[in-house]
Amino acid sequence: TQKAAVGILGLGTVGSGVIRILEAHRKELTHQTGCDIYAKKILVQDASKQRDVNVEGMTLTENAADVLEDPEIRIVIEVMGGVEESRDYILQSLGSKKHVITANKDVMALHGTELLQAAEDNGCWLLYEASVAGGIPVIRGMTEGLAADRISRIMGVMNGTTNYILTKMFQDERDYEEVLAEAQDLGFAESDPTSDVDGLDAARKIAILARLGFSTNVELEDVEVEGIRGVTTEDMQYCAQLGYSLKLIGLAKRLEDRIELTVQPMLIPNDHPLASVQDEYNAVYIHGEAVGETMFYGPGAGSLPTATAIVSDVTAVVKNMMLGAEGSTISKPLHTKVLQNNEE
Ligand code: NAP
Ligand code: HSE
Repeated sequence: TQKAAVGILGLGTVGSGVIRILEAHRKELTHQTGCDIYAKKILVQDASKQRDVNVEGMTLTENAADVLEDPEIRIVIEVMGGVEESRDYILQSLGSKKHVITANKDVMALHGTELLQAAEDNGCWLLYEASVAGGIPVIRGMTEGLAADRISRIMGVMNGTTNYILTKMFQDERDYEEVLAEAQDLGFAESDPTSDVDGLDAARKIAILARLGFSTNVELEDVEVEGIRGVTTEDMQYCAQLGYSLKLIGLAKRLEDRIELTVQPMLIPNDHPLASVQDEYNAVYIHGEAVGETMFYGPGAGSLPTATAIVSDVTAVVKNMMLGAEGSTISKPLHTKVLQNNEE
């Protein structure tokens, strides 16, 4: 059996999940791809830190070049977060003809067009299923499963942390700060959780989905954003008395002459399926002109769900490599191409 060495940037919530899945599902992954996929080197901030995942046989390093300049590593998984450093590492990887998988919606929302262009220029793949809605295959579902359709609306609960907070505040009448701390402990929240609670994380996700769904360049600042900071348990109880649930909703709508993009807390009638999306779960409605309404539902954050999306992207790349194709010739993913605003 051939071997495929991957390099991982980051070994936190998501990175540890990737190691666990590569190990636990090794047989199935080998069967599917015809290749034994293994983590060779992992970049961390502090290599001496105690880890709760078995990294025997792998090299932990604090020096990015150890991973990025290793010729045996053909696939780099970026799960360290942040923006500028991760952008540089992704560009360096693509420049060295390494395929890249990332969970980083910050970098994809801000620099996606540049990074996807670099991938195309280098004949490499840049996949980012995990960046939107954790374990739900919504990017692949929309770009491949609904490729024949014209998407008119994307709407849903796209942030696990805020949905967890809203659920627990309402169900258990618990305090906002206490539930936020719990979401952080569970690994759902971003390293700076203000991006969750102020709606920026959901804004990044709706920008990514809108860019793909409407095949146009969408900038993060095009999204009108309001978070959940001002929501109180009293507000939620009042909503419930009126037969509604309060949810942080991301919405992208194709209008005649423009695209409308918002993230805001919204009242959802209790008999609407979005009202029953609980805890860290996400649900994304995608409306296509021909297909009508479709819904993608599942865990939107957390170690193993997010890592599943990452490793699934890895298998897509490895299958292609095994066919002898370096990204652009066989089975090119549709979502590496973004139409320019002036392109027909
Ligand atoms: P995390 O738990 O904070 O882990 C970050 C990891 O990256 C740590 O291992 C850290 O090293 C390492 N790291 C951070 N900055 C670094 C740097 N400058 N140089 C070297 N190593 C660095 O983060 P996470 O929750 O796994 O999230 C990772 C990415 O996945 C983020 O982009 C996040 O938005 C995205 N994501 C997360 C989830 C989720 O549920 N958590 C879901 C979807 C997407 P040390 O361990 O040594 O500190
Ligand atoms: N912080 C994000 C959330 C992680 O809570 O949804 C998943 O993208």
